[in-house]
Amino acid sequence: MFDAPYRLNPQVADEVLSPGLLIFRDLVQKNIETMIAIARGADRLRPHVKTHKMAEIVRLSESKGIHKHKCATLAEAEMVAAAGGVDVLVSYPIVGPNLKRFAHLIRGYRKTTFRATVDAIEAARMLSEAMTGLDRPVPVLVDLEVGMGRTGIAPGEAAAELYAEIGRLPNLVADGLHAYDGHIREMDVEERRKNTVSTRQPVLSLLETLRNRGFEVPRLVLGGTPTFPIHAALDLPGVECSPGTVVLHDDGYATKFPDLPFTPAALLLTRVVSKPRPGRLCLDLGHKAVAADPAGPRARILGLDDAKPIIHSEEHLVVETAHADELPIGTPLLAIPTHVCPTIALHRFAGVIEDGAIVGRWEVTARDRVVGL
Ligand SMILES: Cc1ncc(COP(=O)(O)O)c(C=O)c1O
Repeated sequence: MFDAPYRLNPQVADEVLSPGLLIFRDLVQKNIETMIAIARGADRLRPHVKTHKMAEIVRLSESKGIHKHKCATLAEAEMVAAAGGVDVLVSYPIVGPNLKRFAHLIRGYRKTTFRATVDAIEAARMLSEAMTGLDRPVPVLVDLEVGMGRTGIAPGEAAAELYAEIGRLPNLVADGLHAYDGHIREMDVEERRKNTVSTRQPVLSLLETLRNRGFEVPRLVLGGTPTFPIHAALDLPGVECSPGTVVLHDDGYATKFPDLPFTPAALLLTRVVSKPRPGRLCLDLGHKAVAADPAGPRARILGLDDAKPIIHSEEHLVVETAHADELPIGTPLLAIPTHVCPTIALHRFAGVIEDGAIVGRWEVTARDRVVGL
């Protein structure tokens, strides 16, 4: 049932509850191997775990030699540490009581190095104060604003000052630069390359300035999926590429960036639950099962290329298709989410598929805000 690479034994399609998240393990493995090949070494990678939020995928990555991880939430950081990861960068501003929780994790997971980013002197001071009493300094990267306008400080003299200030503050050690260029979205590979290279130039200038002034800058953490192959081609000590989506990939990126050699590996099993009008199917794929972003189709339904989305509510996805007559109520279908990262966070467990059969169940550990310690 269903064509390769998404073959499923008929009993799986009959027995899996819908809507259900399925992970095709061999595709995840292949995506990880491709990511390592593009990076030219697992040590040049710091993949973002926010896409999968799963301890099992951290372990799989570790088994392939990836020992550096990036995350957005403290729960993801804890999930990585609890799964045995020894190096995790929280690339999200930590403020308020979250600072105390961060210190708690550092105390609790002694084998893991937790790194942080800051983009303002006041943030660095708050972090420094909150880390009082730890037995090891916290490595801190300066987060640079390179065009997205979300977080960061412009790569320039103020950023160099911030880097120097981190080195002066107690309990912190300056650890490098972080630049996420999530606004770069050109479909044309050459245009994307040009934009990435020119966007990155001020970051490389800042790096050179700091090194010329005698600062240690151990790492330069760069980019996400669309710019990954471009940063991976950069020959510079300390470069760490941080794509996230590639490990599970999705239909949004597969459509927008056909040059990227990754295969969607997380699919949703859904069923026809109603046929309210001729030409219409209602599927159990509401926005509590598949992410409601971005605008446009929320998933590509395999075998229904003409499906036009009509209604998307909490538990229903209504589509119109010329194939509606061929699909009786109860028919199982597979759908590739347009945006896999928020889709995964809607599910507590994923069924793991190998050779068409369910071989296990992985927990989406960090979908919660607190993991446990
Ligand atoms: C700071 C940061 N780094 C890396 C990534 C990974 O990007 P992508 O999802 O394109 O792989 C993200 C994604 O949101 C991000 O916010």
